[in-house]
Amino acid sequence: MSDESASTVPVHCLRAGMAGVGMIFDETYRPFFERARRGWYVQNCGVLRVELSGLASRTGRRAAAYIEAHGESETAPQNLAGPEGIRQLLSGDVDFVCVATPDQRHFEIAREVLAAGKHLLIEKPSVLLLAELDELQALAARHRVLAKVVYHKLLDPDHKKLRTLVAEGQLVHVNSGYCSLLEPKIISANQFSEWIAGRNPGTYVAVHYIKLIDFTFGGRLRRIACTGQRGIVAAADGDTWDSTELRLEYGYDDGREAAFDIHTSWVTPDNFPGYVEQEVQFRFDNGVWNGHSRKRGVECTIEDRTPHEVKITPNNHYNADVLEPWGERGQRGYGIEVLERFAHEVGTVEFGGPAAEREQRLARARELEYNDLSADRQTVAAVQAMEAILARHAAGQPGCMVEVNHAAGGLVLWRPGHGEPEVLYDQTV
Ligand SMILES: NC(=O)c1ccc[n+]([C@@H]2O[C@H](COP(=O)([O-])OP(=O)(O)OC[C@H]3O[C@@H](n4cnc5c(N)ncnc54)[C@H](O)[C@@H]3O)[C@@H](O)[C@H]2O)c1
Repeated sequence: MSDESASTVPVHCLRAGMAGVGMIFDETYRPFFERARRGWYVQNCGVLRVELSGLASRTGRRAAAYIEAHGESETAPQNLAGPEGIRQLLSGDVDFVCVATPDQRHFEIAREVLAAGKHLLIEKPSVLLLAELDELQALAARHRVLAKVVYHKLLDPDHKKLRTLVAEGQLVHVNSGYCSLLEPKIISANQFSEWIAGRNPGTYVAVHYIKLIDFTFGGRLRRIACTGQRGIVAAADGDTWDSTELRLEYGYDDGREAAFDIHTSWVTPDNFPGYVEQEVQFRFDNGVWNGHSRKRGVECTIEDRTPHEVKITPNNHYNADVLEPWGERGQRGYGIEVLERFAHEVGTVEFGGPAAEREQRLARARELEYNDLSADRQTVAAVQAMEAILARHAAGQPGCMVEVNHAAGGLVLWRPGHGEPEVLYDQTV
């Protein structure tokens, strides 16, 4: 043991802003900010702390409750409600901003954040159109800041193990697979009822698996097809979807292909045992990987509390509010870890070495394909294609499909009975 009390470890503080203070803020950002205020050690950097300086949202209701619970008024974040909230947030002294507004409201806010020269973290799906992604990438490059997206399922220990086996060549060449993610009705009926018109559960949650497949198996996205069902959330002939079934086809360097089906719903009965039902199966030349988020762990019953207030099969890997063995209350899991990792990357860019080497540190952080917007192109392409196919379906033209990097354009949509494709995006994906 040595006495290092004479050594001084530098302490750095990042100031953060939050756009959108809804369900995901409560589940993951709130516990992240609470832990990050106390700081943690980051190699080459010292102790890194994060102060939440402002909360921008439409009504400010949840922000007010958070600020009240926070206690100390001198370090409490500002409650910036209403249409000017984002501008007020950006005119303050923030280093990064997290965007957790509804999916179709990410782009405008993300653009303002980057244009103000702040680092950006967006909830999945980053944006809904490749043209929007192009604009954000260009802004991030111009302002020399990070632009990243949260796909927390990439940090699920089961998905990390799957990717490890693929990377090591123990599981050889994926051939096909399916993924299913079913959300309870409460999500479409209460949680998102305000912004659900014209939306679908595929963009909201299939995107987790689009990214998992894209990141884990690599390959080039070639074709996208999609269908869905209506009639529970809204009218059976409208443009709001209860459930969707998406098909992605990928090509690999050896000339072989793989196909994946991703099924999603937000109308599963509220009393089913898990909060969300998540299942995957991937088939390889030499193996099969089966994963089921509910069946991997705990089953718990508490009279009068499960399954509504307390879940029968909680996903403690994602987010668990626990009493630590040493007596503290804590909240941990990959949903929080992914946010910590982003702050770690921003901290390393800003404080992880001499100012003259910031460019190199920024370039290294941008190479991280799990969260950089530059590596989100095929995922956004799949989302844009799915949304376009569902829009045509709702307009009376079911059965469209989209080809990627066709001679006519980066994303081209084919309609049954029409010889000419419609170009959705003309650059290379
Ligand atoms: N990582 C995950 O697994 C996960 C889970 C749930 C949601 N999400 C994503 O997080 C985002 C938010 O979802 P949620 O469940 O928290 O939604 P929510 O409806 O609970 O909350 C949305 C918040 O955004 C605010 N908002 C809406 N429009 C705004 C605007 N123009 N300016 C500022 N604030 C605005 C609302 O006031 C509210 O605070 C979505 O993109 C969703 O896909 C991710």
